Amino acid sequence: MRSAFALLSLAFAAVSFAAPATNTGSGTGALFQRCNRPGVFALTFDDGPNENSYGLAKYLHSENITATFFTNSRNFFSSPFDTTTTETEDGTKTYQEVLQYYDQLGHEVASHTFSHAVLTSLNADQVAEELNLQSDTIFRAIGKRPAFMRPPEGATNEAVNQVISSLGYSNINWDVDTKDYEHLGLATEEERVRAIVDLDVPGVTLGHIALQHDVHADSVNILTPWLVQYLRSKNYTFVTVSDCIGLPAYQ
Ligand SMILES: *[C@@H]1O[C@H](CO)[C@@H](O)[C@H](O)[C@H]1NC(C)=O
Ligand SMILES: *[C@@H]1O[C@H](CO)[C@@H](O)[C@H](O)[C@H]1NC(C)=O
Repeated sequence: MRSAFALLSLAFAAVSFAAPATNTGSGTGALFQRCNRPGVFALTFDDGPNENSYGLAKYLHSENITATFFTNSRNFFSSPFDTTTTETEDGTKTYQEVLQYYDQLGHEVASHTFSHAVLTSLNADQVAEELNLQSDTIFRAIGKRPAFMRPPEGATNEAVNQVISSLGYSNINWDVDTKDYEHLGLATEEERVRAIVDLDVPGVTLGHIALQHDVHADSVNILTPWLVQYLRSKNYTFVTVSDCIGLPAYQ
């Protein structure tokens, strides 16, 4: 599972480096990897919520930053999502309350499917179920249904794209892959980010969408604060995905 993820991500990165990432297509199969204008940067976090997530949302808020969380219901825990709790500096919270907290702070709640299933291995009904169940979880928490999804491992094909589109979702990928799941340390992650962002021409290069995972404590506690100060030194404004691409976050 983990090595398949790494291989797919490598394949994806190779494509990204071969040509500058762009937003491709419209309607079915449209794929967003960049913002629609220069000067803005979207931090995105996949695979949560887990025990790191509430504190991350709070830290970003203390920095006046809004971000986008691509959430699962059954990924790092198998117990019922709505009643499973996590300890936070504001007391014990259910994961439903963590999603509510994101929304209260202006972060966006997006779908990374219900169980982090690789959608290309499912039939159309199963893909729809993965999306609908996660939409239900998010709706129970915040009373809104997500319009953004990110396929686990970035894996899609024509049949999956048909379902994503027919259920009203935009497919949100990234152009800056920190590969935080490799845990190679800040210096390596910093190089990966700089290899892309240091080449930007201010006022010209379209803004970026970065990929991180809030389930990894080092990504939350070490990489994120570095990104915040580095991107501020580049005069980037942090935006949610909806602001980045100019589409509503909810259906
Ligand atoms: C966040 O915004 C508030 C209100 O504008 C301001 O007082 C505060 O200094 C800002 N904090 C940071 C870390 O930029
Ligand atoms: C950021 O903005 C400041 C103030 O306008 C400017 O002096 C600096 O050159 C800018 N930095 C970059 C990397 O554009």
